[in-house]
Amino acid sequence: MSQFDTIHPRRGTGSHKWDRRPELDPFWIADMDFQSPPAVIEALEKRVRDGIFGYPWAHPGISEAILEYLSNRHGVSANADHLLHLGGLVPALSLAGRAFAEAGDALLTCTPVYPPFLGVHRDAGLELIKVPHALADEKWSFDWDALEASVTPRTKMFILCHPQNPLGRVFPKEDIIKVAEFCDRHDLVLLSDEIHCDLVLDEAATPFYSALKLPPELLKRVVVLQSPSKTYNIAGLGYAFAVIPDDSLRRKFTTAKGHILPEINCLAYFAAEAAYRHGEPWRQELLTYLSGNRDLLTQQLRAGIPGLIIPDIEATYLALLDFRPLGIEHPAALFEKEAGLFLSPGAPFAAPGHARLNYACPRSSLQDAVDRMIAAVSKKA
Ligand SMILES: Cc1ncc(COP(=O)(O)O)c(C=O)c1O
Repeated sequence: MSQFDTIHPRRGTGSHKWDRRPELDPFWIADMDFQSPPAVIEALEKRVRDGIFGYPWAHPGISEAILEYLSNRHGVSANADHLLHLGGLVPALSLAGRAFAEAGDALLTCTPVYPPFLGVHRDAGLELIKVPHALADEKWSFDWDALEASVTPRTKMFILCHPQNPLGRVFPKEDIIKVAEFCDRHDLVLLSDEIHCDLVLDEAATPFYSALKLPPELLKRVVVLQSPSKTYNIAGLGYAFAVIPDDSLRRKFTTAKGHILPEINCLAYFAAEAAYRHGEPWRQELLTYLSGNRDLLTQQLRAGIPGLIIPDIEATYLALLDFRPLGIEHPAALFEKEAGLFLSPGAPFAAPGHARLNYACPRSSLQDAVDRMIAAVSKKA
């Protein structure tokens, strides 16, 4: 039995995932029904025992742990001056819009995508240009011609989600270089949200290429947003960081930050540090478990719901399920009504006719949900 098989009751614990619709079993928002690594829990316990929770200061250990992590795991050599600590990644997406564009300018992104990508432009009175991802040799990639056709002189930033939520795709290095060259041609800031980069399920088969590894002439327009929150299940602690190698871009970002963002939680720094320093053996076990869940989900749903399209999931613990071939317009509503399950509807991701399922849960719970989904669809047919 794996540690991840343990069922931790979360209903009634102040959990967004479990308590928003307590009458349904939740497979929606991206947090995992697993405890964080023991080293993270110990670091938090130690910090709590101090019993004093005044304004925090980023202690040297946090930057040191992040720089070591970037270097050891991703082969990225960053400088402590390039790091900015943040209380969350979504506020940073919004902030980037304000920092790098002016009212009336445009942001560009590819769909389907994590919903806040489709909303942050409004915070700064910007336009949003959406270009659908395209299949190339049965793998999700970019529609290069459509990108060229859509970009305008007022477009200031390209927001990349890599690894891609909800497609579960790890783009090859060549694609990331092509995206950066596209940004270079059109003078766009390349904002790369890499929050899922440590959830690549087979790192040998689909290695992750961070935008921070781009050559210097392309790196100067890169802003990378990162966080240990998805991988180590500490989203509720609110910690993320940006790496902005270029001085001028970093200055613009810091200026836009002003006094808008709250202080970072004093516990979060220590959880993040422990995760990066000591979480690797746990992460490896997690990836093995998640791969098993992915296989169960994709094999059983493909067999049990003929016509359903599920991309080959290379990263994340999220599965985008395409019900359009079955003529099911609102699959999340169907599963809510007929199976008592809470999946994310596709529309907010710009993916109507889809539902997104979070499979980061004990395998027995996933098996139960899969059985209920298959039964709900066959009942409808
Ligand atoms: C691509 C992506 N970016 C950002 C976030 C959330 O980041 P934060 O909780 O730090 O705001 C998520 C959460 O699912 C995500 O999938």
